[in-house]
Amino acid sequence: MNPFERAEQAGAQLIEQLGGTFDAAVVLGSGWAEVAQGLGTVDAAVAAESITGFHPPSVPGHGGTLSAVNVANRRVLVMAGRVHLYEGHPPAEVVHGVRAAVAAGCSTVVLTNAAGCMNPAFGVGQPVLIRDHINLTGQSPLFGPAPPEGYAIRFTDLTDLYSSRIREAVLEADPSVGEGVYAGLMGPHFETPAEITMLARMGADLVGMSTVLEAIAVRHLGAEVAGVSLVTNAAAGMGGELDHQEVLDAGQAAQSRVTAVLRAVIEAL
Ligand code: HPA
Repeated sequence: MNPFERAEQAGAQLIEQLGGTFDAAVVLGSGWAEVAQGLGTVDAAVAAESITGFHPPSVPGHGGTLSAVNVANRRVLVMAGRVHLYEGHPPAEVVHGVRAAVAAGCSTVVLTNAAGCMNPAFGVGQPVLIRDHINLTGQSPLFGPAPPEGYAIRFTDLTDLYSSRIREAVLEADPSVGEGVYAGLMGPHFETPAEITMLARMGADLVGMSTVLEAIAVRHLGAEVAGVSLVTNAAAGMGGELDHQEVLDAGQAAQSRVTAVLRAVIEAL
């Protein structure tokens, strides 16, 4: 089965097991795991690994649950337990969840993540809307055989990848939310200070190890993309030392703030 057919199969299972189609999906990043509860009423939930192509979690802070949540009268598929390139998964696995979400009816996918920050305007705990990204993974979810019939060709236009319509609506609702460019690297090591200097000069405000491939895959399927980073640390060489627990703790501390921003994104749909 090709990755597109596999995602269609998973989408059909999501509809069946979670009681119907969805309007939007939210992919929860490191430190965002508890956001699902605060977002709205959880109508149904399944363990991720019960759906074709989904994996049990391998990184602390990434719980593998797929939930149907009612948020402001929209049916939102909340996906906790994303998989990363740095775990050794190929791009098609990394984007399987978002492809399945679109197959389950989601016309918008909201990607969240934890990020290091090189823009001194943003402090730890600050939610930042992703305005654009720089994909430094060297990978693409569209690499390989051409997408099957019925799908768009592989040469996807990434202009306005992160919906300006949604960003404007969220910034109007909450002007304290930041906006910036996210550099996506493969990881799993954090960057060197020299790499951070390079990324800042390239125009990046944020750095992380997810999101970029999923955004490309969602856009290729014709759905709308939004992205929100939670700043969990100053990037390497710009503050203290870096560790994964610090990233998770910063996520915990910023819980209510990020929940409010996510609700604003969903209300803007
Ligand atoms: N670098 C890369 N990924 C990250 C960071 C970072 O500083 N913080 C959270 N995810």
